[in-house]
Amino acid sequence: MKKILVTGSVGQIGSELTMELRKRYGNDNIVAGGRKTKPSEELLNSGPFEVVDCTNLEAINDIVKKYNIDTIYHLAALLSAVAENNPQLAWQVNVNALVNVLEVAREHNCAVFTPSSIGAFGPSTPSDNTPQVTIQRPTTMYGVTKVSGELLCDYYFKKFGLDTRGLRYPGIISYVTLPGGGTTDYAVEIYYEAIKNKKYTSFIKEGTKMDMMYMPDAVDAAIDLMEANPDKLINRNAFNVTAMSFAPEDIAAEVKKIIPEFTMDYDVDPLRQGIADSWPDHMDDSAAREEWGWNPKYDLAAMSRDMIEKLTLKLEQ
Ligand code: SER
Repeated sequence: MKKILVTGSVGQIGSELTMELRKRYGNDNIVAGGRKTKPSEELLNSGPFEVVDCTNLEAINDIVKKYNIDTIYHLAALLSAVAENNPQLAWQVNVNALVNVLEVAREHNCAVFTPSSIGAFGPSTPSDNTPQVTIQRPTTMYGVTKVSGELLCDYYFKKFGLDTRGLRYPGIISYVTLPGGGTTDYAVEIYYEAIKNKKYTSFIKEGTKMDMMYMPDAVDAAIDLMEANPDKLINRNAFNVTAMSFAPEDIAAEVKKIIPEFTMDYDVDPLRQGIADSWPDHMDDSAAREEWGWNPKYDLAAMSRDMIEKLTLKLEQ
């Protein structure tokens, strides 16, 4: 029987991944860990919730012991723009806390899922069909922490036999919880603004392509990877995964098909534009497809239809 701890369960991915894990493995078997942000009623009432600061090793250790945890989904992290504004904190949260999680996992023999990101690449990485194994010289602190995290996962697997697995997530689009300060957030904001005001000002420039994914695929990817046969996994740092690649004008055109009055203009944020320019246009995720059957369900059109339908209902409440 699986006993899972999700750190960062109150965040954009955590809030949905935790509920899906509870559905699949039973509410009492999934411990939601969170730090500052108040959890939703749904998260609090459907299973155990524990306050956990992952920069404190003992705090993680106590929870893992208390619930007999065998798997940790370690989602607590700062996103790219926030990390760039506070690089020291980003190192503490994205790297030191991961080391704590890996150490506790080593002690108690837990499997560990860690998200990496398109941010683990930089300007010297091939930007089209970015290979699984390639140059990783990111120019952001977020990227530095993500590459470090990937190397740590590789190291703990090889040195200690720890069952580490990870994904290089692209921008994740969702309607339950807002992302907390990433470069790809424009592709979430656009739907909120299209429904509320029929217009949006993009902080990312026309022509800037980035990989993206709808939340149901992101949640399935994490669970499918953790359930994959370990003998089939060659890569233990993190897998490239993507579902679509688009620029702001592409998503705007798709929104306009559903909300014809919609218009978009631009007011480019130099910080986030600089970050976006340093990331790939489109990753090659064939290793994920071959090693554990990655196969996303949503493209830009299907995602836009679902997102606008669900978000319209949510905003009416
Ligand atoms: N969505 C993330 C960010 O923009 C990328 O991993 O920071």
